[in-house]
Amino acid sequence: MHLRSKPWAKGWLQDHPDIVISQDKAETMAGHWQDIFDKEQPIQLEIGSGKGQFIMNQAVAHPEINFIGMEIQETAVAIAARKSFDQYGKLPNLRYIYGNGSGVDTYFNKGEVSKIYLNFSDPWPKTRHERRRLTYKTFLQAYQQVLPDGGEVEFKTDNRHLFEYSLVSFMNFGMRWQPEDYSLDLHADPDKVAGNIETEYEQKFLAKGQPIYKVKAHF
Ligand SMILES: C[S@@+](CC[C@H](N)C(=O)[O-])C[C@H]1O[C@@H](n2cnc3c(N)ncnc32)[C@H](O)[C@@H]1O
Repeated sequence: MHLRSKPWAKGWLQDHPDIVISQDKAETMAGHWQDIFDKEQPIQLEIGSGKGQFIMNQAVAHPEINFIGMEIQETAVAIAARKSFDQYGKLPNLRYIYGNGSGVDTYFNKGEVSKIYLNFSDPWPKTRHERRRLTYKTFLQAYQQVLPDGGEVEFKTDNRHLFEYSLVSFMNFGMRWQPEDYSLDLHADPDKVAGNIETEYEQKFLAKGQPIYKVKAHF
């Protein structure tokens, strides 16, 4: 997904460095992420947060958790941060990083992130682009570096190929999941969908009647 740039985005980010952390700043923050939140509590990270609906609604639904949305596109992170700011002001438990998920291990210390979400990640269907997929082994290595031992990656997608690819990638990396943490049609299963927060892409694919695949895999 590439968003057309918005003329206000850069200025908005410059005016709100306490809400959206730049990549340069993020690289100096390892061990200090709790300082940017009101309360010290577990930090959960979404990589590829897009326009931010999921991370904003998670933050509102779970004040007992600190959330960070990480996004590589300036326009997307600006839209996400401005939307939550306009709706709720500066939420005590929500921040953003304008940065690349591949650098996650340079931003955080081991165990500083308690859980990672990947929602409707770009599928990069061509084999020559495999390394860009957020479930490629180098990304998994980086996630492992910042999660606690046994830490969890929660992954949702509409894309069957990316889902199968990711399961194999998780398995090859030694990651495992329980049957109750796996679904080939999330919204057809009342138990598994309970408490689910929908992303923008999820709503789009649901409206078309497509199944949503989900797995929670552990290192
Ligand atoms: C298809 S969109 C999904 C957005 C949102 N998660 C949703 O479900 O509605 C994927 C997003 O991931 C972002 N993205 C892709 N590669 C990334 C990376 N390496 N680091 C951070 N964000 C990335 C893209 O810019 C895009 O906004």
